[in-house]
Amino acid sequence: MIKFGIIGTNWITQMFIEAALKTEAYTLTTIYSRSQTRAEAFLAQLPVDDVTLVTTLSDLFTAVDVVYIASPNALHFEQAKAAIQAGVHVIVEKPATSNPAEFAEIEALLAQNPAVRYFEAARHVHQPNFKRIEQTLGELPQVQGATLVYQKYSSRFDSYLAGEEPNVLTREFSAGALYDLGVYPIYAAIALFGAPRAVQYLPTLLANGADGKGVANLFYDGFNVTAIFGKNANSYLSSEIYGLKETIVTSNIAELETVTYHDGEGHVDNIGETPDANPMVQEAQDFADMINDPVSTHGQYRQWFQLAKQVNQTLFDLRSSAGIVFPADQKES
Ligand SMILES: NC(=O)c1ccc[n+]([C@@H]2O[C@H](COP(=O)([O-])OP(=O)(O)OC[C@H]3O[C@@H](n4cnc5c(N)ncnc54)[C@H](OP(=O)(O)O)[C@@H]3O)[C@@H](O)[C@H]2O)c1
Repeated sequence: MIKFGIIGTNWITQMFIEAALKTEAYTLTTIYSRSQTRAEAFLAQLPVDDVTLVTTLSDLFTAVDVVYIASPNALHFEQAKAAIQAGVHVIVEKPATSNPAEFAEIEALLAQNPAVRYFEAARHVHQPNFKRIEQTLGELPQVQGATLVYQKYSSRFDSYLAGEEPNVLTREFSAGALYDLGVYPIYAAIALFGAPRAVQYLPTLLANGADGKGVANLFYDGFNVTAIFGKNANSYLSSEIYGLKETIVTSNIAELETVTYHDGEGHVDNIGETPDANPMVQEAQDFADMINDPVSTHGQYRQWFQLAKQVNQTLFDLRSSAGIVFPADQKES
């Protein structure tokens, strides 16, 4: 069993814990919180009891094989660095780092600690329905681009409207629409089509300089991908990948509840399956397989690592094209 610990005590961590336990590959040993009281309240919601609560990262890292990091984006880098230095595998929520300089430093640190695995938790690209899309894309006679959408009104936007500064809508925490929900369509585009040759981001900025929503264009030879995403409005548009007459349609590129193939002659085939109620189970399983068998999974591990690196670079290029700067960009590491 892989001993795992967590950083971050919000609902997403609870969902990951449930997913990890469902795989039966992990045992939760340690909960880290900055506050003992919050750690206790978090533990009370979980179906486990034999868990140690800690309030320092060093106590966390001495107790676990792998850490799941779901803190605000701007904290991922330092926390992952400390874990790698302690010889602990890292599963870090998307986006793994704030910018390519941080990613390069993580890569260098991993080279010095080759036994450590570092995974970005981009749950959707691990889902069986994403694999169906990949496979069907490979069968299209020609690719003519895609429109990928993930726009969901956040309760944190209510807090923002009430005059607060929720982490996820601030540049201080390396957040905003692109780095929160935009990651999903950008990840999907790069997983499906590779790194774009150029990008452009047209954001709608909030008064605090963070992006509330926006449209990103990824330019490839012969086609473009348009990504539409945001946290201050709801969209019910499907996501589409274009062949010639053929179109692959998913209800939502992050949730992938349904996937259909339209042949352009009036026939529609359901090519998806009903996803697990917990969308993190497949990634938890994939990461466990790689931790348990690093040798035969090495090629796939490198591929996911390169994908994470390209996504990180593309997110940075997109926000640079719109002049969005994070405080993390100015930090000396
Ligand atoms: N994969 C998915 O579907 C999914 C969904 C949602 C979020 N996420 C990702 O998960 C991560 C966390 O997102 P979130 O919305 O849960 O973030 P959040 O609520 O702002 O913070 C998460 C946790 O980090 C700690 N924290 C909060 N503010 C902090 C600060 N100023 N300094 C140090 N620690 C702080 C808190 O834990 P303690 O107070 O206990 O220390 C908190 O529970 C993000 O990277 C996000 O992109 C992924």
